[in-house]
Amino acid sequence: MRAATHTAALREDGGNDRPNNIISYPEQIKPMSDPTRSLTFPPDFVWGVSTSAFQIEGAAKLDGKGPSIWDRFCEQPGVIADASNGDIACDHYHRWADDLDLIRDLGVDAYRFSICWPRVQPMGHGAWNEKGLDFYERLIDGMLARGLQAHATLNHWDLPQGLQDQGGWHARSTVDHFVEYALMIQRRFGDRLSSIVTHNEPWVAAMLGHHQGIFAPGIKDEAHAIQVSHHLLLSHGRAVQALRAEGTQAKLGIVLNLAPMHPATHSEADRAKARLEDGKLLRWYTDPLCHGHYPADVLAALGDKAPVVHAGDMDDIRQPIDFLGVNYYSRSVQSADGHWDPKAAGKEVSEMGWEVYPAGLTELLQRLHRDYPMLPSLWITENGGAFPDPWVGGQVQDEARVRYLQDHIAAVRIAIDSGVPVGAYMVWSLMDNFEWASGYEKRFGIVHVDYATQQRTLKDSALWYRAFLQRQHQGA
Ligand code: FCB
Repeated sequence: MRAATHTAALREDGGNDRPNNIISYPEQIKPMSDPTRSLTFPPDFVWGVSTSAFQIEGAAKLDGKGPSIWDRFCEQPGVIADASNGDIACDHYHRWADDLDLIRDLGVDAYRFSICWPRVQPMGHGAWNEKGLDFYERLIDGMLARGLQAHATLNHWDLPQGLQDQGGWHARSTVDHFVEYALMIQRRFGDRLSSIVTHNEPWVAAMLGHHQGIFAPGIKDEAHAIQVSHHLLLSHGRAVQALRAEGTQAKLGIVLNLAPMHPATHSEADRAKARLEDGKLLRWYTDPLCHGHYPADVLAALGDKAPVVHAGDMDDIRQPIDFLGVNYYSRSVQSADGHWDPKAAGKEVSEMGWEVYPAGLTELLQRLHRDYPMLPSLWITENGGAFPDPWVGGQVQDEARVRYLQDHIAAVRIAIDSGVPVGAYMVWSLMDNFEWASGYEKRFGIVHVDYATQQRTLKDSALWYRAFLQRQHQGA
């Protein structure tokens, strides 16, 4: 049952004590058919849940944290759908211990989280913030104490504003600052991290942040965005080299947002558009990472907007990685004469308007393995959806999300059966959180968050995932 609501006062210090946190565990979910019922995965396959710092932590101004570009961006009128920000979010900064209990109780192997750079280094250069480092110390040790693998992402978009003031990712100097930051995290926590991801979705950070301007830092300049993407890739490669030189035991990788690009029709124009968009989204990142060069067709299309590349950069970017993280939500359909709307085409869509298309995950994994066989392992680092969350008798019956997860996990299994080395699957997201420009209006959690009380309630999708994982751990 949904427990009585309770408003826990938000604490002003970053202490260790737990605020009252009510977690409600409903009984069981509505019975439905399940395509994963008889599926088994390799015993070492890693199951997890994902979050990111800005989206859940809150405590935006506590304990010496510096502002990030997202803190600053949210201050601009009109950029966030519900005019909200990350000041409190899920108050995870104070509720981390209960949240980790919740994650453990789901029965996952792994928790993918991100480190807020300006919490540990307020300006992004210069002084480190011990209180911020202590927070991640508590969090990582808390994971290990609960038997959870800790998977850290260094950059899930919340660049220190102090670095933005010096040009942000457009400035080559940010690459060096990022490497220093990566080394600090390795020295403090590397012995306890199962993996370190350099960047989450560099395409989004570069293009939505610096071309479309709908994400922080809100710049609208394509050439600027392309240069940003180059510096993100370069900082990835340099950080990987530095972490290896430091003898890290953590597996190293990068996370890309990827989607198969399908032409809307068989016309030559639509096919050419799909091919170019595939170049911009996928090959722009995977070609440098795996082959050490940018795709020629995209470079040609960019013309004088191509990035400034120094001698040695491409070799620096092409570093062996232990895994490629894949964030998969949907396919993309490209039409030469404009926008293709899945809803108008009668497709099932999530609340983000993204088509539900599980077969695209199989297709994408097979294509990555075919075109980039040097990638030793592909991890699904995010998959999930924003769907309606109807409350029925004290439960969140999010049937559409349950089906989405089942069908996508089944799609992963098909890829594995065809020989693709998939090593992990992590649901986006553990709990409802700040969904960037959509604010709190879009809910991706398998755990519901009541933002007025910070109460967490397992949705049917969480109960289903827990039951699925129990079967996996028993060998199904
Ligand atoms: C991805 C982001 C993640 C979340 C999901 C819905 O692009 O990595 O933070 O917002 O989309």
